[in-house]
Amino acid sequence: MNPTRRKFLKNVTAASALVASQSVAKPFNIIKDLKKISPNDKIRFATIGMGIQGHSDTKAALRSGTGAEFVAAADLYDGRLTRVKELYGKDIFTTRDHREILERKDIDAVLVVTSDHWHDHITKASLAAGKHVYCEKPMVHHINEGLSVIDAWKKSGKTMQVGSQRISSSAFKEAKRLFQAGEIGEINYVESNNDRFNSIGAWNYSIPTDASVNSVDWDTFLGDAPKVPFDAKRFFRWRNYRDYGTGVAGDLFVHLITGVHFVTASNGPERIFSSGELSYWKDGRDVPDVLVSILDYPKTDIHANFQMVLRVNFANAGAIANNTRIIGTEGQIEFTEDNLILTKKKLPKAPGFGGYDSYNTFSESEQKEFKKQYDAQYPAEMRKADPVKEVRFDAPKDEDEHADHFRDFFDNIKKGSVATIEDPIFAFRAAAPVLACNESYFSKKVIKWDPVAMKIKKK
Ligand SMILES: NC(=O)c1ccc[n+]([C@@H]2O[C@H](COP(=O)([O-])OP(=O)(O)OC[C@H]3O[C@@H](n4cnc5c(N)ncnc54)[C@H](O)[C@@H]3O)[C@@H](O)[C@H]2O)c1
Repeated sequence: MNPTRRKFLKNVTAASALVASQSVAKPFNIIKDLKKISPNDKIRFATIGMGIQGHSDTKAALRSGTGAEFVAAADLYDGRLTRVKELYGKDIFTTRDHREILERKDIDAVLVVTSDHWHDHITKASLAAGKHVYCEKPMVHHINEGLSVIDAWKKSGKTMQVGSQRISSSAFKEAKRLFQAGEIGEINYVESNNDRFNSIGAWNYSIPTDASVNSVDWDTFLGDAPKVPFDAKRFFRWRNYRDYGTGVAGDLFVHLITGVHFVTASNGPERIFSSGELSYWKDGRDVPDVLVSILDYPKTDIHANFQMVLRVNFANAGAIANNTRIIGTEGQIEFTEDNLILTKKKLPKAPGFGGYDSYNTFSESEQKEFKKQYDAQYPAEMRKADPVKEVRFDAPKDEDEHADHFRDFFDNIKKGSVATIEDPIFAFRAAAPVLACNESYFSKKVIKWDPVAMKIKKK
């Protein structure tokens, strides 16, 4: 092993320990009443927010192989509560008011799957009520809500998982293993996109014909958002409005950055800049449909400095290849949740000469002199690059990373542990920079972020 690589590996190991100590293992008052659930007990859970992802999460939780039992659901649109009974049986308790779920002593865990603007409120209330919490991404709607959620989690001693489930896939785990083994040398650049080209993909979800103030609890939905008259589009297509959603950055960049932080064990960037526009979906939304952000990561004990470029284009009529490419001095890792290609590629030590080069413009005598010196300086072995090596990894066909993400959550509850794969500190370190991408877009300014203290820097 060459000394640079040995040093890199040493740093990675030390860094992983550091990240662990800064994150989940940091001493705080945990494990107070966690032992209530023994490994053999069934965890009873409720889902708050029974929309598209509420259904998807509930099903994934039931597929987790942990015996978790779905007992209650809350939602603000009556049709979705009816649907819960149609799918899961009349005995499932349903309510418009999530507080009725938090009051129930027989419920151990809640899944918070509401629109983004309710995440922090319901998560904190649930932890205070003694529930373990699975909260959808992004963990918070605004950057200034993050530390209070972390605080509530620490005080509660409860297990918490945030829902960027892709990091539970074996392709992401393999990317992490290869990166941390130094396979691509020192990181220098990351690019990752999540483009789309269809109306539903651009968040224009179907609106039921019976949507009205009678079937929807509009006042509760608004929560801490400005009071406006009932608007079915705002309720069923809330992602299009900043009052309730977090735009393409909070919805999609968050998955991309979570993956990169998982692989690199990075705490996050220190400078964030975005540019974008509302290009195609001019349907009343107040968020961009094209967004490109550059995030500068500082050098730390565990990785070199690097840039990350994130992109979403909701009107990408071209080829859509949504993946993440982590590039280093000795190769790259290109991955999705299904597969990964590691390409090892190193430059030879000798720079070469001739071809499209200034060498040919030298006088004949100078060319001779130059070649003499070059031959003396670069023996044959320095002129050859190592052969390019490509290694492919495919996740097992039957892999279910969504269910695995829930298994991690429920297993940690049973063990009395808070060390989930996506705890609130890790999750906020992913959420805050993408929320800063929005802030940069709207203010047209560079946002400075302290990834260790998890605070916006004023200067
Ligand atoms: N992890 C993923 O891959 C993934 C995928 C999609 C969505 N999500 C996240 O899941 C969340 C929900 O997204 P969705 O697509 O299911 O939205 P949705 O509009 O389909 O459903 C949201 C539901 O939340 C309910 N709700 C809102 N406020 C509530 C409250 N105070 N009490 C009870 N219910 C409330 C609404 O009635 C609505 O039915 C979002 O935060 C989103 O970012 C994650």
